[in-house]
Amino acid sequence: WGKTGHRVVGEVAEMHLSRKARKMVRKILNGRSLASVSNYADDIKSDSLYNQYYPWHYVNYPADKTYGEEPPSEEGDIVMAIQTCIGKLEDRQTSDDQREFYLKMLIHFIGDLHQPLHAGWEENRGGNDIEIQWFREKSNLHRLWDSDLIEHFGMSYTELANDLPPMSKQALLEMQAGNVRTWVDESHRLATSIYGSVTPGERLGYRYKYVYWETVERQLLKGGVRLAAVLNDLFR
Ligand code: ADE
Ligand code: ZN
Ligand code: ZN
Repeated sequence: WGKTGHRVVGEVAEMHLSRKARKMVRKILNGRSLASVSNYADDIKSDSLYNQYYPWHYVNYPADKTYGEEPPSEEGDIVMAIQTCIGKLEDRQTSDDQREFYLKMLIHFIGDLHQPLHAGWEENRGGNDIEIQWFREKSNLHRLWDSDLIEHFGMSYTELANDLPPMSKQALLEMQAGNVRTWVDESHRLATSIYGSVTPGERLGYRYKYVYWETVERQLLKGGVRLAAVLNDLFR
């Protein structure tokens, strides 16, 4: 996601933290909110010191496969990234600085895991190589889902987070079920249908937004409540 998407995920997660987890997270982040640190992993992307983390934002695998059927990538991927971050936060030997670093990375990666095209296909790099027109602007399918759709609403991240459909306790628990592997395969299946939603070079606008906005909202909501589930589990 772009900046707004990540902040929405952070804000939604914040609303679903247990007391204990909220207290721990506050302490590790020196009082800052999840939303305010949710873009840290993108902010350091252009710094060559952090090159190794670039492949941690996504995973690509063929349409007819599930995660793990293909040999893992040497540089790591988003699933391995999330597992690494959780491992570092579980490890009592991890220093305070490292704990802060890995928590900020985790908050970001669980967000990205729910942008369907962050679990796309290699041949078009998660839609980055599929050019489209968004209203009058040149864009690509990946950027459309990262930010164009979200920004077109012109709402702040707090407005978006509060505008998401309300859920029963039961629906919340169902949404929080599963694990990183089932979540990545769910995104991957969505990505496959999103690839079929456009033809390269197509001009997209209101109609596309009308059809897909619900999916965007649902993915942001899932990202937030599942991030909360992971943190509540970590800081029990
Ligand atoms: N670069 C290559 N593949 C990508 C993907 N699926 N998402 C984001 N960036 C990528
Ligand atoms: Zn992206
Ligand atoms: Zn990212």
